[in-house]
Amino acid sequence: MKNILLLGSGGRECALAWKLSQSPLCGKFYIAPGNAGTEAYGINLPLSYNDFEGIKKACIEYKIDILIPGPEDPLVAGIYDFCKGDIALKHIIVVGPSKEGAQLEGSKLWSKKFMERHSIPTAAYREFRAGSFEQGVAFIKRSEPPIVIKADGLAAGKGVVIAHNTIEAVKAFRAMVMNEQFGEASKNVVIEQFLDGIELSVFAFTDGTNYVLLPEAKDYKRIGEGDTGLNTGGMGAISPVPFADESFMQKVTERIIEPTVRGLKSEGITYQGFIFFGLIKVKDEPFVIEYNCRLGDPETEVVIPRLENDLVELILTMQEGKLNEVRTQHSAKAAAAVMMVSKGYPGDYEKGKVMSGFEKVRGSLLFHAGTAVKDGQTVTNGGRVIAITSYGDNIKLALEKSYENAAIIEYEGKYYRNDIGFEF
Ligand code: AMP
Ligand code: GLY
Repeated sequence: MKNILLLGSGGRECALAWKLSQSPLCGKFYIAPGNAGTEAYGINLPLSYNDFEGIKKACIEYKIDILIPGPEDPLVAGIYDFCKGDIALKHIIVVGPSKEGAQLEGSKLWSKKFMERHSIPTAAYREFRAGSFEQGVAFIKRSEPPIVIKADGLAAGKGVVIAHNTIEAVKAFRAMVMNEQFGEASKNVVIEQFLDGIELSVFAFTDGTNYVLLPEAKDYKRIGEGDTGLNTGGMGAISPVPFADESFMQKVTERIIEPTVRGLKSEGITYQGFIFFGLIKVKDEPFVIEYNCRLGDPETEVVIPRLENDLVELILTMQEGKLNEVRTQHSAKAAAAVMMVSKGYPGDYEKGKVMSGFEKVRGSLLFHAGTAVKDGQTVTNGGRVIAITSYGDNIKLALEKSYENAAIIEYEGKYYRNDIGFEF
């Protein structure tokens, strides 16, 4: 039995908590900080996932064997190296890359150069900074819109601008490099070719040499129906992805996943954990839009329910470097998640709205995201409030079930997109 500490407080972590707690290998299970949903599966610790010293204390006090960072922040900040460099923590299995490996997500420039070195298909790009501002503007003026401008570092999902004309592009570029819109994160900027296609998310779990694939998924990022309006953390997800057929996935494997895993190893970069490939299918060819060094949210809310393997066992196999000896089983059922959010999100919204109707929900899994318990009641505590995941013989049926239950859960200002999976 292994004692586990999971870091994070979103729907992703709730889905991971649901899965991990089902394992016969799961000993004492803690989530820091967790939410009202994760309490059903383990013990929430009032601790920020960025508080490394606090995490260290918890690891020692609760005799943690496995540490799983859900979000990217602690990984990019080097939680892996922090643990491995500490005599009291070095025995802990950390599910995630070293600080260097986390640069796949932590620096767009680093990941672009990595892809270049390993001939992994991605959009053509140029890099600019304040010192090359004039050259950047000249490059924008020569480029055909739409023009994609990306802050190099982490910018809480707001660091990418798709500009539809030159003026908009120069404005975004100036804000990033001259006005330090995202501080250090936008000191360097990537300007890249716009790829016109359909996106999907593919997940590998690697031991640094071998890897297994998790089910692929598609998420819906815009707040409005028909993929309109502002970008959000994600309004829903489906799995499997109908257009990711065998021949397409073969290309993804050969051209993207294998060169990535091999590339990390050949460069001596320690990486044991999840790799999230944000892909786009252009005509019939896959390109990398971005890498993430963790699982996606809300993709996890459909990917993990479709993973039939014991996740703790997979983690232990990863630690032994033997992922070549296992195969992942993906459920034949489809899964769909509908994210219920707070009115106003992704702009300003109110928290603390009392939620009800949970006991009437039938046939769906509820993965809490922004929820908390206050005076014995479950209340909203974030923009994305709760993901409703359902299985079905196909995506349509899975979605129908999620929508049935979305109608039942009540809180003031509830909103969700009614058209998740609309293209299929
Ligand atoms: P990222 O943070 O890199 O995932 O970018 C956010 C979103 O911007 C992606 O999910 C895509 O929808 C879009 N995007 C990023 N790069 C490109 C590109 N080169 N071409 C088209 N869309 C892009
Ligand atoms: N759903 C996209 C992400 O987790 O970054």
